[in-house]
Amino acid sequence: MQYRKMGKWGLKLSCLGLGSFLTIGYKTDQETSRLLVRRAYEAGINFIDTANGYNRGGAEEALRPLLAEYPRSDLVVLTKVWAPMGPGPNDRGLSAKHIKEQCDASLKRLGMDYVDIYMCHRPDPDTPLEETIRAMDDLARAGKILYWAASEWPATLMLEANAIAKEMGALPISCSEPRYNLLFRYPEQNLFDTTIQLGIGNVTFSPLAHGLLTGKYEPGQEAPSGTRAADPDQNAVMMGMYWSEENKRKGKKLQSIASAMGTTAATLSLAWCLRHPAVTSVILGCSKVSQLEENLQAAELELGDDVLAALDELYPPPPPVPAA
Ligand SMILES: NC(=O)c1ccc[n+]([C@@H]2O[C@H](COP(=O)([O-])OP(=O)(O)OC[C@H]3O[C@@H](n4cnc5c(N)ncnc54)[C@H](OP(=O)(O)O)[C@@H]3O)[C@@H](O)[C@H]2O)c1
Repeated sequence: MQYRKMGKWGLKLSCLGLGSFLTIGYKTDQETSRLLVRRAYEAGINFIDTANGYNRGGAEEALRPLLAEYPRSDLVVLTKVWAPMGPGPNDRGLSAKHIKEQCDASLKRLGMDYVDIYMCHRPDPDTPLEETIRAMDDLARAGKILYWAASEWPATLMLEANAIAKEMGALPISCSEPRYNLLFRYPEQNLFDTTIQLGIGNVTFSPLAHGLLTGKYEPGQEAPSGTRAADPDQNAVMMGMYWSEENKRKGKKLQSIASAMGTTAATLSLAWCLRHPAVTSVILGCSKVSQLEENLQAAELELGDDVLAALDELYPPPPPVPAA
């Protein structure tokens, strides 16, 4: 396993992390989840990604006994706040009140006295940045979180937030969590450059486009049962963003490129995410231990220029953002 610094900060994360959206504490049974965490730990994964919003606290609760099997100092635990946790007007978002209450609730669900990285799951246009930054800084000073972070915040918002944090003498954003995969390369437009400039690390999500980049979905056919695509409880994002005959055909071409290299489409797709210098860690979603075994191979796979060129042709990079 390789370990990478989170941007300019001292924290080191395994280049592959284990996620818990739709799997641990929801669709994956607890024994399989225990085996996933064990195999990840044994392979050197130290980084675990979760959120209060994953099954309304269910993922954090399922992780509590699983993570308690390991020394706390071996783990880098990231959880998030923002998603609705109840019907009330203050049960969501990034207000100081909700951040404080949900941090305490997450710590209780996780059975921990601090989280390493506390993340704003999305922006909250109803709350001034000053309020969110102050709330995060207070949690850091109270020893409940070590770093704070932002998922799917545009580059401009992170620039603004870190300028305000500097003025306030508060902790800036240390880590970002964008969606990044061969079918969704937009962080290459300006987000990755901005994070490098600000010393912010990136832990990236949905590296396999919910499974479409494994080549397991056949053109002209419905999704096989037991897959994320076939499950209406899980497939809303996948159907909205990635599910098309063209993407299934591309998945088969990706599989051919991978097999010519003696690897699989999943391993190749993950190694492709890892090649980017702005990426600290790629967060894996796995419903089975066999998937984790396959995906772990990505940490060792080197990609030559010929392969990168073939992938650029199949999945072209996004156009550059026009200068302002
Ligand atoms: N910050 C955010 O807003 C955000 C959003 C989404 C996710 N995340 C985090 O990122 C993690 C990963 O996201 P993701 O689950 O969308 O990742 P993904 O890698 O795009 O999709 C994971 C799914 O693909 C399938 N899969 C994985 N490896 C496979 C393999 N080797 N062969 C065949 N199928 C395979 C599995 O689904 P099936 O077996 O069910 O088909 C698995 O659950 C999440 O767990 C979560 O922690 C964060």
